[in-house]
Amino acid sequence: MPQNNTFKAGILGTGSFLPENKLTNKDLEKMVDTSDEWIVSRTGIKERRIAPPSMTTSYMATEAAKKAIEDAKITAEDIDLIIVATVVPDMNFPSTACLVQANIGAIKSAAFDIEVGCSGFIYGLSIAKQFIENGTYKYVLVIAADILSKITNWEDRKTCVLFGDGAGAAVVGQVENGYGILDNFIGADGKGGMHLYMPAGGSRMPACEESVKNKLHTIHMNGQEVFKFAVNVMNTATIEVLNRCGLKPEDVDIFIPHQANIRIIDAAMKKLKLSKEKVFINLDKYGNMSAASVAVALDEALKAGKIKNGDIILMVAFGAGLTWGSTVIKWLE
Ligand code: ACO
Repeated sequence: MPQNNTFKAGILGTGSFLPENKLTNKDLEKMVDTSDEWIVSRTGIKERRIAPPSMTTSYMATEAAKKAIEDAKITAEDIDLIIVATVVPDMNFPSTACLVQANIGAIKSAAFDIEVGCSGFIYGLSIAKQFIENGTYKYVLVIAADILSKITNWEDRKTCVLFGDGAGAAVVGQVENGYGILDNFIGADGKGGMHLYMPAGGSRMPACEESVKNKLHTIHMNGQEVFKFAVNVMNTATIEVLNRCGLKPEDVDIFIPHQANIRIIDAAMKKLKLSKEKVFINLDKYGNMSAASVAVALDEALKAGKIKNGDIILMVAFGAGLTWGSTVIKWLE
C-alpha cells in the first residue's frame, strides 16, 4: 500500500499505572546482603514499586490504557489494534493484549503481544507507525507493562535490587505531516540472548519440580555483559535514528532513555555530548520496569510539562534478546 504523505503517525495520548507499594533500598537491606550506599552508587535506584501478589500484568496494562484513551479523547471502541509489550504476560496464552481488549471493551480491535524485553515500547511504536501511515488503521494502542517482581529471585542480590513494576501506554494515530514519529531504528543481536534470560517455563524446560526448586523461573543476568552492550547500543542506536531524521544530538530537546542504571545513562550522555538538563530520569523512584520504563517516563515528562509543541523527543532502549530501539518524535500538542 502506498505511504500517505498527508499525515504522519504520532502520539495522541499517554497514560501510566504504578502499584502503590514502595520497596526502598533500606527494605532490601533486610532481605539480602546489600546496602543503600551500594545500590545508589552502582545504579542510582532508591526505591521501586512492587505489585501485590493478586495484581496481574493485564490489570496494570488496562489501567494505563484507560488513561491514555482518555488523554487522546477517543473511546475504546475507536481502537483498531492493541499491542502489549511484556515479558511477564498473565499466561502464555491468551495474549495479555487480548485480556486488555476484553477489559476495556475495544470491540473492533485486533490484539497481540510482543516480547522484546525493555525495548518493547519502542518496537510497539514502530509497528503502530506502519499501520497508521499505510492507512490500515486509525488508532493503535501501544502498551508496555511488566511485573518483574513476579520473576525476580529475591535471594539474588545481583538482580533483585534493580527491578520494579509498572505500565505505560500511548494511543498512536494521525498527526499533521512534519510532526509525530519522524523515524525509528530497531535491532537485535540474538547471539547475546543468554546474557539476560529466564531459563524455564518454555518449551526448552517446561515447569517441573526441579525448575521451581532451582529458581529457574526467574531473571538470570550477566550484569557486566549487559552493561557493556547497553552503553554501546545506547550510543549507536541514538546516532542511527538521528541520522535517519537528519538531526544531531544538539537538536534534541528531551532525551528519554531506558531507566536501567544511571551509570549507563551517564556514559551514553557523555559519548553523545548531551547536556544533563535534557535527560529525563525517574529510575531513582521506580528502578528498571523493563518495557514500561520508557513509556512511564514519557507520560511523566508530558504530565510534568517538560515537553512543549515542536520539541524533539528522543527515546532509546535496550533489553532482553538482546534488542534495542530508538525513536525520534516531533511533538504536536
Ligand atoms: N549489593 C552489594 N554488593 C553487590 C550487589 C548488591 N546488590 N550486587 C552485586 N554485588 C557485588 C558483587 O558480588 C561483586 O562483589 P565481588 O567483587 O566480591 O564479586 C561486586 O558487587 C561488584 O559486582 P559487579 O557485578 O561487578 O557490579 P557492577 O558495577 O557491574 O554493577 C550491575 C552490577 C548494577 C548489575 C551492573 O552490571 C548493571 O547495571 N548491568 C546492566 C544491567 C541491566 O541494565 N539490566 C537490565 C537490562 S534489560 C532488562 O531490564 C530486563
